[in-house]
Amino acid sequence: MEKLNGKVVLLTGGSRGMGPIIAEALAKRGAVLALAARSQRGLDDVATHLREFGAKALAMPIDLRQSAQREQLVADVQREYGRIDVLINNAGLETEGPFTELPWTSIQETIEVNLVAPMALTRLVLPGMLERKAGHIVNIASIAAKSGAPYAATYSGTKAGLAEWTRALRLELANTGVQFSTIFPGYVREVGMFAKFGVQPPWLVGSCAPSQVAKAVVQVIEKNRREKIVNSRPLRYSFVANELSPTFGDWLMRISGLVDFQRRKVGKRGG
Ligand SMILES: NC(=O)c1ccc[n+]([C@@H]2O[C@H](COP(=O)([O-])OP(=O)(O)OC[C@H]3O[C@@H](n4cnc5c(N)ncnc54)[C@H](OP(=O)(O)O)[C@@H]3O)[C@@H](O)[C@H]2O)c1
Repeated sequence: MEKLNGKVVLLTGGSRGMGPIIAEALAKRGAVLALAARSQRGLDDVATHLREFGAKALAMPIDLRQSAQREQLVADVQREYGRIDVLINNAGLETEGPFTELPWTSIQETIEVNLVAPMALTRLVLPGMLERKAGHIVNIASIAAKSGAPYAATYSGTKAGLAEWTRALRLELANTGVQFSTIFPGYVREVGMFAKFGVQPPWLVGSCAPSQVAKAVVQVIEKNRREKIVNSRPLRYSFVANELSPTFGDWLMRISGLVDFQRRKVGKRGG
């Protein structure tokens, strides 16, 4: 898909955090938006903001943990706009804390929102895309998908699953006209699930701005890019090093300060 102008985009996690910033970047390229999340008020505020500069935007309240609501969401967007050209699985939950101390319900909820919902929504939008031989699925993973973040093991597992599932589907559905992209943001400053802690990640690990993630989303769609890591430090090299030697990879994670940082961050939350 070359251009976003006039394309119908279903964006999850549109009520707060990076979602509204991604939505604005897409709206500025002429996309027509359906914003999904639980908070009606958050969605309404974002949709109103987008409409102020002439964009078309619908607020679609939904709990992504509920299978029937996911089906209803896709049916409603298709009824309102006639089709879905782009699905962006951006909604996410972080469940941080020592793995054995987390309630099982939190772990299940994280898997449902971060992994099951993107799979389910993709399965619902794919028939239309395959029929039209056009469409794009963008999944927002995390650098935690590339090198597991301690004290965020479930989160890391869901993001790694999301990334490899996307890659597998891309290969399975090559030459169908449907594109698949994964974005791997580092710790995001200013808004979202990390910024709310008010802490700085270790220098060696780096971070990124939400506007850079939004720009990456636009780029992967307009230029058909498969994957994009968004981060101030070139972490790709440490991911490659980890593939070559997991022992060295674990050592790198410790000396970068990431393990201690994650432990302190969880402590700050009281987890
Ligand atoms: N922030 C970071 O540092 C960072 C780094 C790497 C990757 N990411 C990924 O980027 C994405 C966006 O992160 P963010 O920081 O913007 O997160 P955030 O501020 O916590 O926002 C999460 C979004 O997901 C929605 N959501 C959560 N549970 C939901 C549910 N059950 N049903 C429907 N919507 C639900 C929330 O809306 P409601 O509460 O209104 O439902 C909200 O719009 C996530 O996938 C995250 O894993 C974030």
